[in-house]
Amino acid sequence: MRNGGESGSKPIVVFGATSDVAIALSRRYAQEGASLILVGRNESRLTAVADDLRVRGALHVRTLLQDSLTYDDHPTLVESLFTDHAPAKFYFFQGSLPDQAACEASFEVTREAVEVNFLSIVSYLTWLASALERRPGEKGAAGGASIIVVSSVAGDRGRGSNYVYGASKGGLTIFLQGLRNRLHKSNHGVLTVKPGFIDTKMTADIEKGGPLWAKPEKVADDIRLAADGGRMVLYTPWFWQFIMLVIKSIPEGIFKRLSL
Ligand SMILES: NC(=O)c1ccc[n+]([C@@H]2O[C@H](COP(=O)([O-])OP(=O)(O)OC[C@H]3O[C@@H](n4cnc5c(N)ncnc54)[C@H](OP(=O)(O)O)[C@@H]3O)[C@@H](O)[C@H]2O)c1
Repeated sequence: MRNGGESGSKPIVVFGATSDVAIALSRRYAQEGASLILVGRNESRLTAVADDLRVRGALHVRTLLQDSLTYDDHPTLVESLFTDHAPAKFYFFQGSLPDQAACEASFEVTREAVEVNFLSIVSYLTWLASALERRPGEKGAAGGASIIVVSSVAGDRGRGSNYVYGASKGGLTIFLQGLRNRLHKSNHGVLTVKPGFIDTKMTADIEKGGPLWAKPEKVADDIRLAADGGRMVLYTPWFWQFIMLVIKSIPEGIFKRLSL
């Protein structure tokens, strides 16, 4: 386990803490008696999640209210994460699935999708990376902190049906590759998570069913395992790695004719 026992004094930070996958993951930590710092934009939802985690055994739960698009507030929030103990893990779950047709009809809708899924996380990570570099981790198994960011398989290839979301996630994936390269020098890790379809409130309007759909608890468990194991990239469930290998190998001349 990176950075020792999670039920110890080092807190776990969860951005986008009201996400269904984030809640499933935070519950696992709560059951182990961990301390959590939850960041979210909706006060009543954030309070409900915090109360639930306390009941489930969390040692300490702190909530930080912030809409991720208020960039000027990011440096202060990031610094405040380090006031007591330097956290062991920083999870980023925030995201939104925009309507592709609405994006095509309006740059404003496109811009908001890119901001929520990409730019706002880039802003947080810009401040966080510098904060971590000022606190380098020890070399070896114990290591430093871990940054775990949920991207998507949608970022592996642009498709006509959701390329604004896909481009935001693809940009995020590339950003994380560079950040991993940078933070390796100060012994901090970066994990990029690429889920396939998950049954959450984000996909409430999509017809579900079949083996490609996963429950948030399954994805949360995969993420936890990969984060503790110091992995760099995770496809979850695992079979998406092979699905995306096939999708990425289709020549562009054929791909552009497909209805995907
Ligand atoms: N569901 C899928 O099929 C799927 C597939 C691949 C990747 N993902 C990714 O997995 C992550 C978790 O998603 P989920 O499925 O658990 O969806 P979810 O339950 O809808 O969670 C989305 C989270 O993003 C937050 N958020 C949205 N806009 C925000 C903003 N402007 N500022 C701050 N927070 C904002 C939401 O906050 P509120 O609760 O306040 O709305 C919520 O906490 C996302 O990054 C998503 O892109 C999901």
